[in-house]
Amino acid sequence: MTMATNLFGEQLGQRYTRPSASLLKWVGNKYRMAEEIASYLPQRHGVFYDVFLGGGSVLATVAPKQGVGSDVFPPLVEIWNMLKSDPSRLKRWYADRHRRFVEASDRKQQYERVKAAYNARPNGADLLFLCRSCYAGIVRFRKSDGYMSTPIGPHNPIPAAAFAKRVDEWHSRLSHCDFVQADFADLMRQAKRGDVVYCDPPYTHTQSILYGAQTFELRRLLTAIEDCKRRGVYVLLSIDGTKKSGSTTCRLELPAGLFEREVRIEVGRSMLRRLQMTGETLEGELVSDRLLLTY
Ligand SMILES: C[S@@+](CC[C@H](N)C(=O)[O-])C[C@H]1O[C@@H](n2cnc3c(N)ncnc32)[C@H](O)[C@@H]1O
Repeated sequence: MTMATNLFGEQLGQRYTRPSASLLKWVGNKYRMAEEIASYLPQRHGVFYDVFLGGGSVLATVAPKQGVGSDVFPPLVEIWNMLKSDPSRLKRWYADRHRRFVEASDRKQQYERVKAAYNARPNGADLLFLCRSCYAGIVRFRKSDGYMSTPIGPHNPIPAAAFAKRVDEWHSRLSHCDFVQADFADLMRQAKRGDVVYCDPPYTHTQSILYGAQTFELRRLLTAIEDCKRRGVYVLLSIDGTKKSGSTTCRLELPAGLFEREVRIEVGRSMLRRLQMTGETLEGELVSDRLLLTY
């Protein structure tokens, strides 16, 4: 880790390097923005919490000396716990399913078998393969009952050896982290003065359907952030930005005085829009995210 400087040689913050590739495909994944987000961390801090862990890009980029990754979705947390406790088994989870997939005479049927197994009993092993092989990497759940509905993607899921290399890199980056299945508020209550909490909640607009039966209330999160700030815990919040086309501006009511700074993080083309707009032009669909800081 080195210090980043601007044109005038002023120190901006620590420079972090993201992993060479992402481990999971996850909607809303911050892989491309993780280094920029991490550069806004306070230079000295205690435990780093990523309380909407998802694909874990920011946690793995920070690679904290003491960290906690948490998410409310049990099969996802099962994957992270396996990465920590038994990386060889995680590699086997993927390799076994990948082998059956490439050897199958009908790959679509084989994919549907894994999907059916997952839907009969949601579990990390099947979810891992599904997220790497489903259409556009968008694991989509039916709101009423959490049924995973995404069809197979047209791409070849990465070879088992390539996945195994990623497991090694991510295992070592996250070796000082614990993984917990919990609501964000439970973890935020545990944070102490000097700790940092990074929040990347489901997007208020586009992602409302994608995390299944989970309902998410921004108000509850803002209350938890207020409590953290009062206790001297630093909070960073990623939130939907503005569509540059200007057709939709995602506006949120934020309590006055809660955030000290706001920065814009360039996101590139929105994956969700790409999916919805198949065959249509993507011009004007560049989006940027907002990062709000309580310090
Ligand atoms: C936008 S994604 C996080 C993406 C992540 N930063 C990454 O880089 O992949 C939001 C995550 O929040 C989780 N989530 C939804 N409601 C939650 C809650 N109440 N508490 C904790 N996690 C929640 C979802 O399961 C999902 O994985």
